[in-house]
Amino acid sequence: MDGSIDQNRLMQALPAWVPAARYLAECDSTNRAAMQWAKDGAPHGSLLLTDYQSAGRGRLNRSWVAPAGSSLLFSMVLRPRFGAERWALVGLAAGVAVCRCLREGGISASLKWPNDVVVDGRKVAGVLVESERRALVLGVGINVNMSEFPLPLQGTATSMSLAAGRRFDRLWMLGETVEEFASLYDSLPYGLIDSYRALCDTLGARVRVECSGESVEDVAEDVDAAGALVLAGGKVVSAGEVVHLRTSV
Ligand code: BTN
Repeated sequence: MDGSIDQNRLMQALPAWVPAARYLAECDSTNRAAMQWAKDGAPHGSLLLTDYQSAGRGRLNRSWVAPAGSSLLFSMVLRPRFGAERWALVGLAAGVAVCRCLREGGISASLKWPNDVVVDGRKVAGVLVESERRALVLGVGINVNMSEFPLPLQGTATSMSLAAGRRFDRLWMLGETVEEFASLYDSLPYGLIDSYRALCDTLGARVRVECSGESVEDVAEDVDAAGALVLAGGKVVSAGEVVHLRTSV
């Protein structure tokens, strides 16, 4: 449906907010390549997109695997003017942007803390933020047109096309997502946490949180101004893996 992507089509799909963009048919990881570009001086907002990653990175040292041409796999170089205590908000803003675009596309997506985008509990997109001195690399992976997943992922992953019953144009999705993200980023921190709360399924859920080798079960009560998860018992978690626990009725 979305034809082949090339450098020209990529530039045309992006808002003017993005000063420079690169398309690579294949690379190891767009986050790694964007990190190198950041070291070489890429301006704020630069974007790198690929069709296939041979060593895609996920959160918590996991990998991110997607068949060639099925997904949106991109990274942006950001040079925040605000301090590191607010950098987690960048990942949250990306999650909110993707979630809103999916909803615009008719998919009832929500957020699982911190920035997994899920549909009916299955992950459709993930966000990985890495830093290089004062620069951030924001990596986004969106499962767009996969029609199936390998066995180990079948219960936990989905795609936009599986959720909506139709295929999507990846460059349309990219343009919408980047535009939405740019607007949230430029307003940071104003309004972000309220927008995030409105989309986040984790809040109010009973969860198990695994962080630094420790596992805690509690009700997720809120997200604080820095994007950390606040549990009902008062514990504040700034990074970790959350499992939503089913409550028996
Ligand atoms: C997660 O584990 O949920 C985060 C996944 C982030 C994957 C994206 S794909 C594009 C960018 N490049 C990478 O190597 N990772 C991110």
